[in-house]
Amino acid sequence: MKDVQRLLIENKAWVQEKIQVNPGYFEDMAKGQQPTFLWIGCSDSRVPPNEITGCHPGEMFVARNIANLVIHTDLSLMSVLEYAVVYLKVKHIIICGHYGCGGVAASLTPSSLGSIDKWLRNIKDVANSNWGELEKIEAGAKRTDRLVELNTISQAKNLTHTAIVQKAWHEGRDLYIHGWVFDMATGKLKELTTIDKTFPIPPAHQYKF
Ligand code: CO
Repeated sequence: MKDVQRLLIENKAWVQEKIQVNPGYFEDMAKGQQPTFLWIGCSDSRVPPNEITGCHPGEMFVARNIANLVIHTDLSLMSVLEYAVVYLKVKHIIICGHYGCGGVAASLTPSSLGSIDKWLRNIKDVANSNWGELEKIEAGAKRTDRLVELNTISQAKNLTHTAIVQKAWHEGRDLYIHGWVFDMATGKLKELTTIDKTFPIPPAHQYKF
């Protein structure tokens, strides 16, 4: 119980800290949100999106899952994406992987982990598509880290295959997709790719509106 009590005590201190700087802080926050960013990241506890980007409450809409995957049948993520793009009108979607990702590392082993195999299978597909490059890298941390990058870029592309993103572009909205990777050994974010409405979408993935 001591662990959980610590969180509640920290919460009280946080409230006090905010009120001291701005007595109306929480009244303002309760009025609504207008986030500029949608963050899709890994659930890893070492990658807290607001903290590493200096974003305050209200600035970033967040979805996290194991290995930051964009799966078209993931109703939760697709709902987050739709709400963020269509209703909140975010301008930037940041898909962020991180070096040393346990999910990506697990996808490179032949071990069966139970239900999670089905989730990791999506990363195995990315690995298979890029095996010519990956097999030249020594198995272990370096190969995992390259797959982290390739997976992040692949998930960014998956976003462009959704009707949600394509419709926003069709309507002339300013919407950018950024693929980043977080290096927890340095604390730094690295940009891998930026995608805008000029990105070529394969014919079978193109929607007409
Ligand atoms: Co991870």
